[in-house]
Formats: sequence, structure tokens, C-alpha cells
Amino acid sequence: MVYGLGIESSCDETSIAIVRDGNEVVSLKVYSQIETHSPYRGVVPEIASRAHLEKINSLLAVCMEEAKIQFLELKYIAVTGYPGLVGSLMIGAQLARCISLVHSIPIVLVNHLEAHLTVIGLENELPAFPWLGVLLSGGNSSIYIYKGFGDLQLLADTNDDSLGEAFDKVSAVLGLPYPGGPYIEKEALEYKRPKGEKNPFPKLLKEDGPEKIRFSYSGLKTAVLYYLKSLTEPPPIQKISFYFQQTAFELVVRNIKKAIQKTNIKTVVAAGGVLANETLRSVLLAESKTAPFQLYYPQKKIYCTDNGAMVACLGYHLWKEKKFVGLDFKVSPKRNFEQII
Ligand code: KG4
Repeated sequence: MVYGLGIESSCDETSIAIVRDGNEVVSLKVYSQIETHSPYRGVVPEIASRAHLEKINSLLAVCMEEAKIQFLELKYIAVTGYPGLVGSLMIGAQLARCISLVHSIPIVLVNHLEAHLTVIGLENELPAFPWLGVLLSGGNSSIYIYKGFGDLQLLADTNDDSLGEAFDKVSAVLGLPYPGGPYIEKEALEYKRPKGEKNPFPKLLKEDGPEKIRFSYSGLKTAVLYYLKSLTEPPPIQKISFYFQQTAFELVVRNIKKAIQKTNIKTVVAAGGVLANETLRSVLLAESKTAPFQLYYPQKKIYCTDNGAMVACLGYHLWKEKKFVGLDFKVSPKRNFEQII
């Protein structure tokens, strides 16, 4: 049996996990800093680092106790190295270095974005590569060609706001709490669309032909703002939320179809915080049946958000490939690690 430790501290979740054989979660603890950051309607880097520092040791202690193992039984320590807030990444990195130094356990450095995709390995046998990795979170709206562990090629990216960011900004103008995703989703689910009613927001990037694959959500945010300005009555929040989601998700589906067309890859793994959205999950599921393509996304919502289990899961495969790093490893805000070497 191979026990691995996963450490995640790239943004506003502090998380530790112990995973067995790369696919079985023995213990997972996530401390969310949302309440701390919500008065600022966004993550404040300095506050995030301090909060990681305060919580990370106690989360580790609880995980070790729950797993009923000793440090010496760990075969590897997987830690998120990039991308993320550097001050926050350094807290996890330093914890990894300490445990490694004291107990001589190898460290593997994990790409946070890749870990979001491989987290499906905790719920399914990993499909054969290549995959199309669709990452929809607070910081990303991108599609990768995922060829093998550590081998990701960016196929499509956002020109401006990510999808999660759009949810958060639109929720702010609607007067909903931060982070906006779950609140907009709830409002949208309540909406009873009258038959034949037209979407008040324009189709996104309709000028793009079949070759061009990209995301852009700032136009949708502006369309919501103009719509609000045009109203003389209190805003219909449920209706706006409903059509905001419909417009935003239509672009996701269109881009996935284009990516399949362009690459002929029919295994699609969708991940990241926005995948917690039930409407998006069912839209993608329905699409996967008609398109068709093989769709994976994390079933458990805790695996959509940042967590140590996804780090330990990817770490297992890197450990098997002996991709160890020395104690002097670097962390980076950049998503392509080569950029910092
Ligand atoms: O991956 P994630 O947990 O972390 C960061 O990228 O920081 O994603 C957070 C994002 C936020 O923008 C949040 O509003 C969005 O995911 N989100 C959702 C839902 N739950 C979280 N968006 C839509 N619907 C949801 N249910």
C-alpha cells in the first residue's frame, strides 16, 4: 500500500489529504477562507497567506490522526507548486520541506491546474490519454490537450474574465453575496421561464468561426450592467441569473465541440469550482450524449474546489515516475512551470 500526503495552499483553501494508492482518500480536510475574504469580495493575498499559516499544521495533525498512520509510512509528499499566490504557495511548500527533511520522504511538485483534472481518478479509473481538460474556475477558463502526466498543451484560454470571475462580478452588481457562483445558481434555478421568452443577452463571440476557440466573459458582465441600467423597476434577479448562466454555458459547450472537432479527442474532463454548478453539469451531460463524447467531472463537489486529495492523487503518478524535487524547489504564480526555470 502506498500512502501519500497532499498539501494544497495555492489560493483561499488550506487543505491536507492522505490518499492510498493514488485513488482512495483516507483523510481529507479543507479549511475555506471564504468568510475571511468575503468583506473584500475577492481574495486578499496577504490575508490568505496568514490564514494558511494559522491553519495548516492543525489540519495536518487531524489528517494524520484520522488516517492512523505515522509520517514514516508516507511514500511521498505532494505539494502544489504552481500556479497560485506565491505567499500562499510558500506556506504549503515549507510544510512539505519540513516533513521531507525530518523523515526523508521525497517531494513531488504538483501543477494545481493539472491536479484539478486528475482528481477524477479518485472516483473512476483514469481514462487513457489524451484528454481535453476543460478548466472552469475563479482564475481560469481554458481548454488543454492533456497528453500525459506533466504534459499539458493550452488549446483555448480567456481573453479577459474567467467564468468564475464573471459569476462573482455579476453577483456583485445584483447585490448577491461573494463568491457569486452558488447564489446565482440558486436564483437561476428558481426562474420559471415564460414560453417563447427571448434571452436579453447577446450570444458571446458569435463572430468567431469554427477554428477560433477562446473564452471571454467581460462582454456578458457589461451586457448585464446595461440591462440593469435600462430597467425602471427592481431588477428581476432570477431572470438575469437564468439568462446569464444560459449565455455563459452556451459558450462552454460551443468551445468543447470546437475543440473536439479540431483535435478529434473525445475524452473530455471538466473541472474547477464552476463545475459545482448543477445546471452546467446537466448541460454538459446532455451534450456528451448527443455530440457524443466521453465526459468526466468530479461527482463530489468537494473535488471541484481546491483540495489536498487532488494533489495527492496526481502526486501518486508523479511519484511512480520518480519526478522528485529537491528541498530547494521553487513555487510560482505562473501556470507553465518552464517559464520560471
Ligand atoms: O476552483 P475554485 O474553487 O477556486 C479558484 O479558482 O479560486 O473556483 C472558485 C470559483 C468562484 O468564482 C465561484 O463563484 C465559482 O467557482 N463557483 C461557482 C459555483 N460554486 C463556485 N460558479 C457557478 N456555480 C456554482 N455553484
